[in-house]
Amino acid sequence: MSDVSVKIKTPQTGEIELNTGLFINNEFVKSVDGKTFEVINPSTEEVICSVAEASEKDVDLAVSAARKAFNGPWRKETPENRGKLLVKLAELFEKNAELLAAVEALDNGKAFSMAKNVDVPGCAGCLRYYGGWADKIEGKVVDTAPDTFNYIRKEPIGVCGQIIPWNFPLLMFSWKIGPAIATGNTIVLKTAEQTPLSALVACQLIKEAGFPPGVINVISGFGKVAGAAMSAHMDIDKIAFTGSTVVGRQIMKAAAGSNLKKVTLELGGKSPNIVFADADLDEAINWVNFGIYFNHGQCCCAGSRIYVEESIYDKFIERFRERASQNTVGDPFAKDTFQGPQVSQLQFDRIMGYIEEGKKDGATIETGGKRKGDKGYFIEPTIFSNVTEDMKIQQEEIFGPVCTISKFKNKADVIKIANNTSYGLAAALHTQNLTTAIEVANALRAGTVWVNTYNTLHWQLPFGGYKESGIGRELGEAALDNYLQTKTVSIRLGDILFA
Ligand code: NAI
Ligand code: MG
Repeated sequence: MSDVSVKIKTPQTGEIELNTGLFINNEFVKSVDGKTFEVINPSTEEVICSVAEASEKDVDLAVSAARKAFNGPWRKETPENRGKLLVKLAELFEKNAELLAAVEALDNGKAFSMAKNVDVPGCAGCLRYYGGWADKIEGKVVDTAPDTFNYIRKEPIGVCGQIIPWNFPLLMFSWKIGPAIATGNTIVLKTAEQTPLSALVACQLIKEAGFPPGVINVISGFGKVAGAAMSAHMDIDKIAFTGSTVVGRQIMKAAAGSNLKKVTLELGGKSPNIVFADADLDEAINWVNFGIYFNHGQCCCAGSRIYVEESIYDKFIERFRERASQNTVGDPFAKDTFQGPQVSQLQFDRIMGYIEEGKKDGATIETGGKRKGDKGYFIEPTIFSNVTEDMKIQQEEIFGPVCTISKFKNKADVIKIANNTSYGLAAALHTQNLTTAIEVANALRAGTVWVNTYNTLHWQLPFGGYKESGIGRELGEAALDNYLQTKTVSIRLGDILFA
């Protein structure tokens, strides 16, 4: 064991050795000033271990490593090899699925089975998909005059700063590095202070896959220090952020006040989930339940505002109440757990605060509303009815296992209330009528609309927000644009020779 590694224990793997340093130039190093911070297990509220904490000076070191790699060996690498490295990393994720999922479940609190069967395969799929794109980044020739030759080249932007949240630590890591690497950029990525551990395992795999030093640098640290230093950095060319809308605005301001780095943002949501009277009721209840309670409600696209057509409202709510109260909440490592603890004390307090607010405003608790147990940040799946559109619980992102349910009269009525939000990340509707499905999907102001399903994201499909839910799209071909510059080259030719 070095001074930048510790032994930790997960119920799934037993004791494992974990590197805790900052990952710069393919080495795990201490922070310049030797600072560390504690990482908490949200199921037990106990300290798992401490990891290195990046300051501004460490951000500088990571950025210069990324710059050196960008100007040096990485620019000379072929697209084919960039693709191979991503595919190799995807394979290593699959090979180490058990370990990655166990560390993720320990640190974040999500069910181990979810981490293993949803998060890790999602990472591998995404990395492999972008591996496939690496040698398909193409330019164009444009004819403007017989004596001119113009070509348009797609080039990497340069050093990319990436700041990720704690709700899907590994998945966000993969969504960020996939398109950036495929397009030939280098990276400084900051993990969320609540969940730095799984990325540290992934860094070991980056080294094993054979990425040259400095291409992917990963730092643990706090938003206000390391994150702010990245957003204001003069030698970071682009910043990609996923997290709260409040911080998204701060990042744009920092970019505007420094080198006008390119900014893409994937922010919050308050997504409507609409059930029409002609929907398959069993299916709709399943997807509405999964839409809000998957990942303990800690999803930017969580279906947190449920609207049910008047004529089936009573039947729906009775069955949904029963379904929600049956979700198994508990130890992430227990076999049948669906919902683990919220990620942190702070998130737990925020969510309980919203529940109190809802009660005070006069909404009715249909089920849940309380803490579960007395250790760990567990909250019962909660449904509020009797809500009005102006209530806080109806307008603000709660980011926990809490939803609201209301009635609607008709299509026009529900489109209006569904769109009555400053957010626009996702939406869903449930119906058997094709015309209703298409009409409503077209009318909803959201980056993703699901019909008769929910939360079924796929790396081949673009994902991102309208309105205050963000700028740009992640995943799919669309994400490549976030990481490319367009260069026009115009060449004046001599005499034109035609025979
Ligand atoms: P946050 O936006 O503060 O944190 C996300 C990331 O941004 C973390 O890596 C954090 O270190 C970094 N960060 C924080 N302040 C920064 C700054 N000034 N400059 C640069 N980077 C900074 O989110 P937080 O406080 O963890 O959660 C608060 C709320 O945000 C949640 O309740 C939820 O509503 C929303 N959220 C949305 C997410 C999404 O997926 N869209 C993910 C996480 C949170
Ligand atoms: Mg944690």
